[in-house]
Amino acid sequence: MEECCCRENGSFSLWCILGLILIVGSSHIAHAQDSPTDFVNTHNLAREAIVWNITDLVWDNKIAAFAQNYANQRKDCKVTPSDSGGRYGENIAVSPGNMSGVEAVNLWVAENPHYNSYENKCEGGECSHYTQVVWSRSLRVGCAKVKCDNRGTFISCNYYPAGNIPGETPFP
Ligand SMILES: *[C@@H]1O[C@H](CO)[C@@H](O)[C@H](O)[C@H]1NC(C)=O
Ligand SMILES: *[C@@H]1O[C@H](CO)[C@@H](O)[C@H](O)[C@H]1NC(C)=O
Repeated sequence: MEECCCRENGSFSLWCILGLILIVGSSHIAHAQDSPTDFVNTHNLAREAIVWNITDLVWDNKIAAFAQNYANQRKDCKVTPSDSGGRYGENIAVSPGNMSGVEAVNLWVAENPHYNSYENKCEGGECSHYTQVVWSRSLRVGCAKVKCDNRGTFISCNYYPAGNIPGETPFP
C-alpha cells in the first residue's frame, strides 16, 4: 500500500517523504521502549496470556499526565505511592540505572509465579504489581518515566478503574 503512493507518477510524492519521517520517528521510539505503545503492549501481552479475549488496556493522556506530574516529584527515586484519592491504581518501579518502560512493566509481570489464582493471594513474594497489570476491570493506563537525581530511573503507571480491590480476583 505504501509502495503504491510512493511510486505515484513514477516519482516520490510528498506523502512518501512524510511517510519516511514517520517511519524514522516511530522506529526511534520503538527502540527507546518508553513510548505509550511500548507500555501498553507490554501490559496487554501479559493480559492476553491469561485469556485471549481479556479486555486490552488503552493509553489515557490524562492519566499519563497525572503519572508524569507525580514522577517529576520523585526524582529522589523513592518508591512512595502518589495520592489520587483512590481514583487510580498504581505500579512503581525504580532502578539504579537507565531502565526502559518495557523493562519496568516486565519486572511487574515477573511477579506472576507469586500469584496463587486458586486462593487469590500472593505466595512466596510480592504479586500485587502483577495483579494490577492483568486486572481485567482496569481499562485505561498512563505511565511516566523520570531520571532521578542519582542517575537512576523512576517509572510509574496509573490505572483506571483501580485494581487490587480486596475480595475480587483480577481475572474476568
Ligand atoms: C471470553 O470467552 C469466553 C469463552 O471462551 C466467554 O465465556 C467469555 O464471556 C468471554 N469474555 C469476554 C470479555 O468476551
Ligand atoms: C536510556 O534508555 C532509553 C530507553 O529506555 C534510551 O532511549 C536512552 O537513550 C537511554 N539514555 C542513556 C543516557 O543511555
